[in-house]
Order: sequence, then structure tokens, then C-alpha cells
Amino acid sequence: MMGLRKLGLTFVTFLLVLTAAACGNDNDAKPASGSESGEKYTFKLAHITPTDHMWHKAAEKFKEELDNRSDGRMKLEIYPASQLGTEADMVQQISSGSVDFGFITAAYMSSRAPAFTAWFAPYAFKDLEAANAARDSEVAKKILGTLDDQGLKGLDYLFAGNRVMLFKDKEVKKPEDLKGLSFRVTPSPPLQDFYKSMGASPESLPLPEVYAAIQTGVIDGMDMDLDATITNKYYEVAKYGAVTNHMVWPAVAMMNKEEYEKMSDSDKKIIDESIKAAAEYAVKTRSGQEEEFKKTLSDAGMKIYEIDQTLFDPYIKQFDEKYGPTDPLIQEFIDTFRE
Ligand code: BEZ
Repeated sequence: MMGLRKLGLTFVTFLLVLTAAACGNDNDAKPASGSESGEKYTFKLAHITPTDHMWHKAAEKFKEELDNRSDGRMKLEIYPASQLGTEADMVQQISSGSVDFGFITAAYMSSRAPAFTAWFAPYAFKDLEAANAARDSEVAKKILGTLDDQGLKGLDYLFAGNRVMLFKDKEVKKPEDLKGLSFRVTPSPPLQDFYKSMGASPESLPLPEVYAAIQTGVIDGMDMDLDATITNKYYEVAKYGAVTNHMVWPAVAMMNKEEYEKMSDSDKKIIDESIKAAAEYAVKTRSGQEEEFKKTLSDAGMKIYEIDQTLFDPYIKQFDEKYGPTDPLIQEFIDTFRE
């Protein structure tokens, strides 16, 4: 039964990828390098979040900006909610050019380009606005540049809410209370190490498997953001939410590199400015939603509370000492942003 379902899903994904590839015909007639604007494009963008998540709204904003700034020459088709497969599949499709753009978690990208680990330095920023300001830093741009040799053009970063901790039925009040808990953490080594250092047993589960795992007690809690706690209804299966804001959660906005480089300077500028507008829109909108999201979750029956940041100091130090020396860009990031 499971085998048939899996076969069916694989077939549907295959059909969607074929459709996506077929939709890109305009792109086959791209302008030669340096040619004047005037060319029409139909781009494809893929990401993993549902349509009510901020990253999808940012994708819609990007679409609108491309359309307006190019006088209708640049169209964008958006494939949300893992329609084109896992993040690994999507990055492969972007680097081969069958998909043009992706919003891919920095957590996944850290497994392909280790400098992205820098973004997971715990408590590196006091709030979302401070993290957003870091987008324009030299070091953040250099980190995007490490994608060059994978056929990818790193364009910018898009933030959703910072990371929080959800617990099925235990009110964790200090890091040491995590000891022995089976805790879902995104499959990314720096995030897993942070929880291991506090004594939790990290379970490496992708987003679509998390709800059932906590519902059935396979995990005791999860590392998440408030956005997905609402969009994925984790409030139905987790009683406690510690709003720790311990790490930021950027998506990396990226494009097929060859395609970007073939565009005229004025079309590149439209891409750059449109993605910047989408990133600014995302962070501005999301910053204003923090209190509303906490209230939504309290109203849904969760106990929402905070944990004093200083209790995490020893674990922050361990992270910096372990990861700083692994990569000059991670060290530069820590030196730039740690106060
Ligand atoms: C997660 O894996 O926790 C996640 C991924 C994308 C958006 C939000 C959360």
C-alpha cells in the first residue's frame, strides 16, 4: 500500500517537473549576452513552504515586482509546497537550468556550501530587523558567492520568523531540561550540534513528517518557527511553546548562474531589485506579526513563554568555538555580528 502511494507521488512529481520544464519555452530564446532589454521571459520558481507561509508571499511579491519593473516582459510561475520535490531535487533542477529560481533554506544549503552555517550562530542578532540588516554585509554577500561553483547565483536572503522550541507536554524552562528529550531538528549539522550540546537527542526529520511524529510521541518536541507552527497546525499537538528566538531562519534566494550571466545588465538589475523588494517586504511584514502570532497560538491553547537568553551562554560559546575555526567566513560572520 505504502509502496503504491510512494510510486504515485513519484509519478506526480515527475509530471510536475516535466510540466515545469515545458513551461519554460520562452527561456530558450534568451537574449545573447549584453543584448538590450526587450526579451520576454517565463521563469519558474520552486520552494518548500505552503502558500500561507511568508516565503510564498515573498515569491508572489517577487512575481509582481518582476512584472512591474519589466513592463510585463518577465513572468513568474511559482511551484510551492515541495511540488517539484525535496530541496535537494530543487537545487539540482536550478543548477541544471530546468527551474530558474529557488527559495531554499540556508539550513539545507549549509550541507552543500558550509559557509551558510554562519547564519545558525545562536543569538547572533537581537531581532529580525538586525538579521535583515546583515543581508547587506560584505560577509553575507561573500557567503552567497560560495554558490558560484555549483552553477548557482546567490541573489539574497529572505527571513521568516526566528526559531523557537515547541514541546508536546513538558514545559522546558532552561536548556538543561532538554536533556534526554527526543527533539526534531532540521537535518543540518550545526542545528543538530546546538541541541546535542544541551543534552537533547536530535531527530533529523523533514518538515512533512513532523506533525505525525509529535502526535504519536515519536518526538517530544521540535525546533520550529512561529509561522510554520501556525501554518502546519503544530498547536494541535504541542502544548508548550518557548519563544527563544535562538536562531534566524533565512531562505537563500538563488538563480541558475548561467542564465543570470546571459542576461543584459538592465535585466540583471530588474532581477536584483525585484528580489530585494521581496526580501524587504517579507521582513517588514513578518516583524509586525510577532505579537499576533503569539496570541494566535495562546488562543489555540498553547502555553507561550520565554526563556532567559543568558541561560544559553555556554552553548553559544561552544557553537562559536566549534564552527568558527572550520571556515574563515563563519569566523568573519561571528566576529562581525557577535556583540
Ligand atoms: C523547517 O524545516 O523547520 C522549516 C522549513 C521551512 C520553513 C519553515 C520551517
